[in-house]
Formats: sequence, structure tokens, C-alpha cells
Amino acid sequence: MTSSGGRFITIEGIDGSGKSTQAAKLCGWLEDVLGPGGVLRTFEPGDWDSGPLLRRLLLEGAGITPRTELLLFLADRAGHVDAKIRPALEKGVWVVCERYTDSTLAYQSWGRDLSFEDTRRFLDCCRFPEPDMTLLLDIEAAAAAARLEQRGGLDRIESGGSDFMARVAGGYRELARMSPERFEVVDAGMDAEAVAAAVRGRVGKLTWGQR
Ligand code: TYD
Repeated sequence: MTSSGGRFITIEGIDGSGKSTQAAKLCGWLEDVLGPGGVLRTFEPGDWDSGPLLRRLLLEGAGITPRTELLLFLADRAGHVDAKIRPALEKGVWVVCERYTDSTLAYQSWGRDLSFEDTRRFLDCCRFPEPDMTLLLDIEAAAAAARLEQRGGLDRIESGGSDFMARVAGGYRELARMSPERFEVVDAGMDAEAVAAAVRGRVGKLTWGQR
């Protein structure tokens, strides 16, 4: 929690876990609770001035190695934190961000097999603000893949295959076990309304519990 009262919530999960749907529902609810302008909804990669250029490179670029991928995600996050996340938190605005540092650990370390210690060290050097709560939308890789197939048009990372996505899903569960005080794991296999109710229940602890 920042001194001025803004809380920082991240939403994580594999592709097809329903993050965007849940971010929209959560922000609608938080805006009712906090009032207009009380919450900033944002996402990674790409939601800042130069972010779309980096997002395009990350999702469509050719010859991107795991190391290049890691450094580009960190570059995107540095711009995003400086331009949007930190200023909002300093003003007391709540921030809901789809994907953040845990995406980097789950995808680049567990998914791409980069050393966990090295990836963690790069993240530590960046001194990004720590989320107050991370909601992990937990879903079996096969169920998420079926949702993605319906949507169609997979990008470079989504095309990594079922083994890749299963490793990422396992990485997320391990990260949640490593930081139980920050993570809230929600069963994302339920219908969207049931997931949203579970999410509100978890975030409500933060809202009312610390006010
Ligand atoms: P996302 O915007 O969630 O995908 P989409 O909108 O197409 O569903 O994220 C793009 C991809 O970037 C996603 O496959 C996860 C990946 N990613 C990483 O590999 N590492 C990271 O640090 C971040 C933020 C995202």
C-alpha cells in the first residue's frame, strides 16, 4: 500500500483464463465503491505512450530469443510504471493491471526456461512497485486452450503449444505458493459471474479490511 492510499492489484493467469473480462468487472465495481476516477485499469504489455511499438515487437517480431523477450518485457514495464502506474498510486488512485512481474516469471522462466534466479535478479534491479494483491485466475491449460481456439488468431507467444502453457500454469501455482500473503488464487473454470463474485470477495478484504 502506498502512503497516499492507492492500492495496486494485478491480475494474472495463462492466456484464455479470462483476465480481461474479470478486470472490466472488477474495475466497474471498484469505481462504484471508490467514485469516478478512483481506479485506473491498465495492462501489459503495451499500455503506455510507446507501449504499442514494444507490444507489436513482442507479439509479432521475428527471431526474438527468450533473453530478448525478457529484456523487452522489462523495458515495456519500466515505461509503463514510470508513465502510468507510479503516478496513479502516488495520487491515491487504485490500479488494476492485467499482467505484471509474475507474468515474466511464469512465461520467461517456467515457460522459456530462463534461470529463475537470473530473472528474479533482473526484476529486483528494476525496483518495480510491489502489488498489494495478485489475483491468479487458475485454470487448466487444456480448458484455456479451448477458449483460445474459439477466439482464434493466436499471437507468437500464445502459439507456444500445450506443453509451454502447462509449464506456465505450473509456474503460476508455484509463485502463488511462494508468496501466499500477496496471492489470491481463484478458480477460473467457473462461469464469468461466479469468478467475478469470488474476485470481489478477495478484493473486499483489501478494501474494507485496511480502511
Ligand atoms: P496479453 O495481452 O494478455 O495477451 P492477449 O491480449 O493477446 O490475450 O499478453 C500478451 C502475451 O505476453 C501473453 O501471451 C503473455 C505474454 N507475457 C509474457 O510472456 N511476459 C510478460 O512479462 C508479460 C507482461 C506478458
